[in-house]
This record gives sequence, structure tokens and C-alpha cells, in this order.
Amino acid sequence: MTNNSTLVLFGARGNLSRIKLIPGLFHLEESGKLSNEMKIVSVGRQNISQDEWENEIKDMLEKKFEGKYDLEVFDRFIKKNIYHATLPDDPNAFKNFAKLLHDDRRFPKNFAFFLSVRPSDFAKIIGQLAEENLLNDDEYWRRVLIEKPFGTDLKSAIELQKSISKHLNEKQIYRIDHYLGKSALQNILWTRFTNSILEPIWNKNYIDHIQITNHETLGVGERTQFYDATGALRDMTQSHLLQMLALTTMEKPKSFSPDDIRTEKIKLLKSIKSIPINEINKHAFRGQYKSGVIEKEGHVKGYLEELENTKSIVETYAAIRLYIDNPRWKNIPVYLRTAKRLSQSGTFISIKFKNNQTEKKLNSNNWLVFSIQPKESTYFEIQTKIPGLNESDLRTTKLEGINRLDHDEKIDAYETLMLDLLEGNQSRFLHIDEVKAAWSLIDPIIKYWSENKEKVHQYTAGTSDPKESEIIFENKNQFWREEN
Ligand SMILES: NC(=O)c1ccc[n+]([C@@H]2O[C@H](COP(=O)([O-])OP(=O)(O)OC[C@H]3O[C@@H](n4cnc5c(N)ncnc54)[C@H](OP(=O)(O)O)[C@@H]3O)[C@@H](O)[C@H]2O)c1
Repeated sequence: MTNNSTLVLFGARGNLSRIKLIPGLFHLEESGKLSNEMKIVSVGRQNISQDEWENEIKDMLEKKFEGKYDLEVFDRFIKKNIYHATLPDDPNAFKNFAKLLHDDRRFPKNFAFFLSVRPSDFAKIIGQLAEENLLNDDEYWRRVLIEKPFGTDLKSAIELQKSISKHLNEKQIYRIDHYLGKSALQNILWTRFTNSILEPIWNKNYIDHIQITNHETLGVGERTQFYDATGALRDMTQSHLLQMLALTTMEKPKSFSPDDIRTEKIKLLKSIKSIPINEINKHAFRGQYKSGVIEKEGHVKGYLEELENTKSIVETYAAIRLYIDNPRWKNIPVYLRTAKRLSQSGTFISIKFKNNQTEKKLNSNNWLVFSIQPKESTYFEIQTKIPGLNESDLRTTKLEGINRLDHDEKIDAYETLMLDLLEGNQSRFLHIDEVKAAWSLIDPIIKYWSENKEKVHQYTAGTSDPKESEIIFENKNQFWREEN
């Protein structure tokens, strides 16, 4: 159970808070994870009454749980919740807010600030909190959770870090990548390091290459302006895909303490080689979806039609090849790919083992796959003999372990991360060195793509990876794994 603390939720009336954070906190209350004394202060920029806020919470929960939630838990939860407005045109807004928080008969003095606001507001709010002495952790802990993205490139990430580190030390900063809160990602570490059969084969001697995939059938929807300023590489590859890569390939940490896990992730991310500028066309591929047919949706528009701007060169498909410069992975390619509007949605990590070199006919064709979503499972594919008279007729057999059973508790990634924030566990949050290493890898590709405005490859919505993306493969025996 969380210790005595006050969770302050900036942007409490925003989209993320309505869909994930308030329902997530309610579920934590239901699971008995929030202490009786804990308080939640929801901060917005509009003046609404406490009654109105409680009705909004009710509305969020109705939508999320379709009316099925425990009213006793609701009463308990509501008693913890206080709404407070910091009006944008009030020069004393933060002074008054600080006065409220410093009432220690009402609010425990350990403060966790969750900034679920637009990235342009992160530094400003931290500055305002510091001015009111709300971040000083000499006596009580003071933590700040910062939503994604942390910067839009290396330069802006360094600038943001510079401005917030005037007020906060690294131990106080919780930079989010919500994929790290998914139990299927945590499973990668536990599977790798608790099953000793994997360690001897987890290296360049046995593994041919690794593919990390995040495909969606969804398009950019309402978020055209946001997406066109971001693109697939920034939105997915820089954060979620590189984190999955780190968990899959990092060395065993000294212990499973937050610091030791992050130390190994940082080492791994720093050891990935940058793609030389003159080789970007062979190591990276981009595309944009054009109109097509998506199952269950029917005909859908292309990206440029949705955007109403035929000049955009922003990618909705990105695939890159990387190499890790360490003894375990030397010369083994790792492919990262992400796309919108393909025929299948799925997040999975596929490890392709080397073929049997001595007996070419007996192509070993072994894969190990970590399925992250929609299903959570881990499976091996091995070749087995088909019963019958033909001596060497083989087929692929799947040895699958389902990681999520029907009766297992469903925890949203944000619930795990909010609990971590309250408990002071930083292992599932990004260290600034991870953020910097990730931007350093991605920045040159984004820059190259933005300067080379040749026509971006157009793929039809509802199809699979464009054939042209295969240019990034190291050799012609490699191919995209479709099955998740
Ligand atoms: N939504 C998602 O699924 C998602 C996923 C990943 C990451 N994120 C990140 O999460 C953050 C929030 O996203 P969102 O979709 O919820 O954005 P949003 O709907 O725009 O909500 C942001 C909220 O913050 C409020 N706000 C701004 N400054 C404030 C202040 N000083 N005090 C109190 N409230 C303040 C805004 O109020 P006003 O309306 O008055 O401006 C607005 O209600 C963003 O950084 C985003 O990049 C969101």
C-alpha cells in the first residue's frame, strides 16, 4: 500500500486523465492500494465546484466501467478527491494553490505531481511549483511525473532537462513511457533472466536477427496536426520500440533494483551504433498510407487526404535497421518497424535463430516471439517431423505459453506507473541518459528525411509491410515476420 502522500494531478480534466488516470486511480482504490490518508488534488484551469468535479468523476467511471463499479469504493474514492483551479489569468494562482497544499491537517506532506498537461507546459508548471517551495525534498519526498514526449529532439530534450534540473534532482523526476508499465514488457526481463536455458543462446552465435514490431490498423484519426508535427519515428520508435529493444538485449542487471535495471538499459542504448548519414537509405525506410480498405471499417482515406495537405512528407510507416556495438550482439541486425493502417494490429518482438549451416536441407527456422498485444504470450516455433513415410517432411510446431489467463487481474499500464510514482520506484521510468541516447539515434534520420523531400513511398491502407521496405534487410534470407 502507498505511504502517506498527496497526489496532485495537473490537467485533471484533460483527455488522458478522463480515460486513464482517474479510472486507474479508482481501480487502485478498489484494489486497496491507496492508503486511507492519501489525498488526490485534481488541478484544472477552469473554476468548477467540488460537486461538479464529483459529477465529472462519476461520468468518467460510468463510461469506463459501463456503470459497473462498487458504490462503497466510489464513496471512499470521492472522499480522497479535491478539485482546485489554477486560473490562467490569476497572478496568485500558484500562491493560493501552495497555501491549500500546505494545510497539513488536510494533506499529507509527501507530494507527487503528475503533469498530464501539454509538453509546452511542463517546464512552466515545474518553475511555478518551485517558486512556491513545493519541490524542496529536504524533509518530505517531492516527485514529479512528466508525460511523454520529453522533448521533440535531442536539443529540446536537453533544454527541457536544463530548465527542470534547476529545481529537481534525477531521483525526483519520473519521465513516462507508458509501455514500460505493461506487464507484457515486464515479462521480457523476467523470462530472460529467470530461465537459465535462454542465456546460453541469447547472443550472436545463435541469433540471426531481431525484429521489434508495432503495427496498427488505426489511422491518425482526429490527431492529424499533432501527427504531422511528430511522425512514426518520433511517436513510436524513439520511445516504445527502443525501450523494447533495450529490455530484449540488455545485460543482466546486478540486481532487480530500479537503479541497476536502468543502468543496464542506459548502457545498452548508448551502445547502439548511429546510422551513418550516407547509409540512411539502406538502413531506414519510410512510407505513408494511401486510401484502402480496412477490415471492419471499410474504405478509409489516405493520410494526405485526411491531412488536407498533399505536400506532407511525414511518415506513417517507419522501419530501421540498427546494430548494437557490444560483444554479445556484434553484427546482429535489429529491425524496428511501426506503422499505421496496416491489415493487422500487433506489438511483438520476434527473435530469429540462425539456420542450420551444416545441413542446408534441414533449415532450422526457429523463432522465439514475445507477443505484447493484443494477446500476451511467449512462444517458440520449432521444426518437427510430420508423421508418415516421408523421411524429412517437416512442419512448424508452436510451443506457446499464454502469459495472461482469463482470470488474471487486468491492470492498466498507468495504474502500475502511478503506483510506482507513489512508492518511489523509478525502474519503469526513463532516466535522462536513456532519453538522450534515444534522441541521438533518431535525430539524424529525422533530419535526413526532412531534408530529402523526394516522394515518400505510398502504401495501400489495409495491406502488409510494403515490399520496398525490404531494402533495409541485411540479406535476402531475411523477411518480415507477419504472425504475432
Ligand atoms: N491522451 C493520451 O492518450 C496520451 C497518450 C500519451 C501521452 N499523452 C500526453 O499526456 C499529456 C496530456 O494529454 P491529453 O491528451 O490529456 O491533453 P489535453 O486533453 O490537452 O489535456 C491537457 C489538460 O491540461 C490542462 N492544463 C494545462 N495547463 C494547466 C495548468 N497549469 N494547471 C492545470 N491544468 C492545466 C488543460 O487545460 P485547458 O483545457 O484549460 O488548457 C487540459 O485540460 C500530454 O503531454 C500528452 O502528450 C497523452
